[in-house]
Amino acid sequence: MKAVIYKKYGGPEVLECVETEKPVPGSKEVLVKVEASSVSAGVTWMRKGKYQGSLLFTAMLRLMYGVIKPRQQVLGVEFAGTVEQAGAKVKLFKPGDKVYGTTTGLKTGSYAQYIVIPENRRQGVIAVKPPQLSMTEAAALPVGGMTAIHLLTKAELGTGQKILIYGASGSVGTSAVQVAKYACAKVTAVCSTANVALLSEIGADHIIDYARQDMMQLKDRFDIVFDAVGKLPASTARQLLKKGGRYCTVRSITEEKTAYLRSLHQMIEQGEFHPVVDRVYPMDKIVEAHQYVDRGHKKGNVIITHWPV
Ligand SMILES: NC(=O)c1ccc[n+]([C@@H]2O[C@H](COP(=O)([O-])OP(=O)(O)OC[C@H]3O[C@@H](n4cnc5c(N)ncnc54)[C@H](OP(=O)(O)O)[C@@H]3O)[C@@H](O)[C@H]2O)c1
Repeated sequence: MKAVIYKKYGGPEVLECVETEKPVPGSKEVLVKVEASSVSAGVTWMRKGKYQGSLLFTAMLRLMYGVIKPRQQVLGVEFAGTVEQAGAKVKLFKPGDKVYGTTTGLKTGSYAQYIVIPENRRQGVIAVKPPQLSMTEAAALPVGGMTAIHLLTKAELGTGQKILIYGASGSVGTSAVQVAKYACAKVTAVCSTANVALLSEIGADHIIDYARQDMMQLKDRFDIVFDAVGKLPASTARQLLKKGGRYCTVRSITEEKTAYLRSLHQMIEQGEFHPVVDRVYPMDKIVEAHQYVDRGHKKGNVIITHWPV
């Protein structure tokens, strides 16, 4: 089978397509034919071997993925595809099921024609794809959606609260806007001029175009300030909070839980959540896709469609 690997950390040019062994599932694992994966911001940090602007996060990343060079060579985290084979002891999935999830904590990433996923995960998730979503949309769902739910739950998001979401146009940001609206919060989204229409479409109540308006001049004070892009210092965020308000940031350790996917499925079923897909690239344009995401301006998610098998 084909896979996209990286043998050293660096720019998009370190990615190479190779032929490798098709994996064989164990008795408690499923073999998934991958149809779509993503280029998330996190995957580009893994490829670079560094997290911009944070020595601490870079050190953690190197400890997790390899100090000098990547320990696991197949890149990619999010996936959507079809179960081709289920091990004898697998109860939740069967061949033909359309599934999606993440490869977090596994030996290989999702940039491969086939991946093997344990039915029960310690890290990472796998679930049956909501029928309302296409494969490309499903590959855009898990990381942004789960990160938004995890951080907003920790920040005790509730009905009627006022929340400011900074960097609202990325994968986490567009998910956070929709999760907060579902919780009946009043959302103020901060984004650039190019993304004002998108934020209005997904339901933000107020939109601050950071090129035209200084959010620090806002009279409003918020119950929650959510830094969805990792660029808003805590000291700045605190000036926008009500007394007792909470600041949360994507520069935090988060968790992946099937329970979060269940919440997302419920919102999708009710037509209250839709993953935002910016661009879709075929796998043979993976370098261009990474170059695009490296520029830091993607809207929502960038998706890769896999090689036909
Ligand atoms: N902790 C976790 O588990 C976790 C999980 C997922 C992601 N993350 C982290 O979260 C961050 C965001 O990831 P992402 O995939 O959602 O988005 P992303 O692709 O990194 O975000 C880019 C978006 O943010 C906007 N943006 C860029 N600079 C901005 C600024 N200074 N002010 C306001 N908006 C700005 C961009 O639009 P404009 O340039 O047009 O403004 C673009 O739409 C990444 O650092 C990622 O590593 C953490």
